Amino acid sequence: MDKNSLSIIDSFAQNLNAISGFQTTSQPLEGTEALPKKNIVFKANKDIVPEGYELSIQPDAVIIQASDRSGIFYAIQTLKQLLPTAIYGDQPTSDAQWTLPCMEIKDAPRFGYRGLHIDVARHFFPKEEMKKILDLMALHKQNTLHWHLTDDQGWRIEIKKYPRLTEIGSIRNKTMIRKEWDNYDTTPYGGFYTQEDIKEVVKYAEERCINIIPEVDLPGHMMAALAAYPDLGCTGGPYEVSGQWGVRDDVLCPGKEKTFTFIEDVLTEVMELFPSEYIHVGGDEVDMSQWERCPDCRALMKREGMTDPHRLEDLFMERMAAILRSHGKRPAVWNEAVRTGAFARECRVHGWESVKACLDATAKGYRTVVMPGQYFYFDMRQSPREDGHDWAAIFDARKVYGFGFTEFSPEQMRNVEGLQGAFFSE
Ligand code: ACM
Ligand code: ZN
Repeated sequence: MDKNSLSIIDSFAQNLNAISGFQTTSQPLEGTEALPKKNIVFKANKDIVPEGYELSIQPDAVIIQASDRSGIFYAIQTLKQLLPTAIYGDQPTSDAQWTLPCMEIKDAPRFGYRGLHIDVARHFFPKEEMKKILDLMALHKQNTLHWHLTDDQGWRIEIKKYPRLTEIGSIRNKTMIRKEWDNYDTTPYGGFYTQEDIKEVVKYAEERCINIIPEVDLPGHMMAALAAYPDLGCTGGPYEVSGQWGVRDDVLCPGKEKTFTFIEDVLTEVMELFPSEYIHVGGDEVDMSQWERCPDCRALMKREGMTDPHRLEDLFMERMAAILRSHGKRPAVWNEAVRTGAFARECRVHGWESVKACLDATAKGYRTVVMPGQYFYFDMRQSPREDGHDWAAIFDARKVYGFGFTEFSPEQMRNVEGLQGAFFSE
């Protein structure tokens, strides 16, 4: 256990002292020496599973055991939950009950992947808001942020080699009002993260034991990029950053080699910014009708002996995988990308369309993050009386917590990496 890990306990003790007026100290315990009083004591315990912890609250001391930094971090999150809510602020609070009941907690996560998906393309969340989201994720012991950085309605990450992606692709001229498909405002809407912003958010997340998986959604959902670089499309445009929600039928053209040069350049900058082993390359909701009409795509299909455009998506996604592989990374994809079952098993699938999509992916042997929209798309409304989206379902917290994996066989469960909530911001 390195110093950096133990500093989590130190900074908690300082925070507690500042707010409660206590004089707690923290220290690592090497052997069997007597417990120091009024202390938060840490004991490394390699028998505890990754991210797990044991918390023992005794009359004179709090003892935390874990085998890794995340375990310590989660023990502290639990301690905070047991304390008055003032612990989440920074103001001295003497009127709260700064006591803890004696107890023993042994805790470990059921799943190694506990995620939240945030769409910053339809609505932009500035980095300070992203930090608040990360704080809340940490409080709930979530360890993965899936950051949906690009879509038809906006490109939100600076790419130095392609400045037009943000100069043009980050701004739409209008936005549809509520769910009225023919009714638009006239206000330009935009925003993006500089590479420095991204580094700051990645660091903030790492401090909270959260890995960020960036998503560049390909080859569909690319209107913002096509508006900036129209010759990457099948028709050549003109394209505009979409002011309408939903999906556009314009997609990247795999029949043109320059498309892959562009993607490799973009992903190379993305991979340098994010330490994550997995990079999400989308693969959802690809309208293939333009591929069927495009001379370049048709020529490619002929050369490859293909008749089904789904095979062209397989080819496209395989090339994404190869780019990532050559940088020591792996692809994460939406479930449509593995529909034919041809895609590399090294990928991780995000099953969003239905429970069945998750069952199919796990049955085919893909490591899968379970997030069917009918249970985990939190932009859906919670009751018929409430305003908002309902295209996946109307559901409340009871249904979310009730998700029981009842239809998954033991073999399929072995391929479940975990669960993820999603917030799309249309
Ligand atoms: C998705 O909701 N299109 C992944
Ligand atoms: Zn094409």
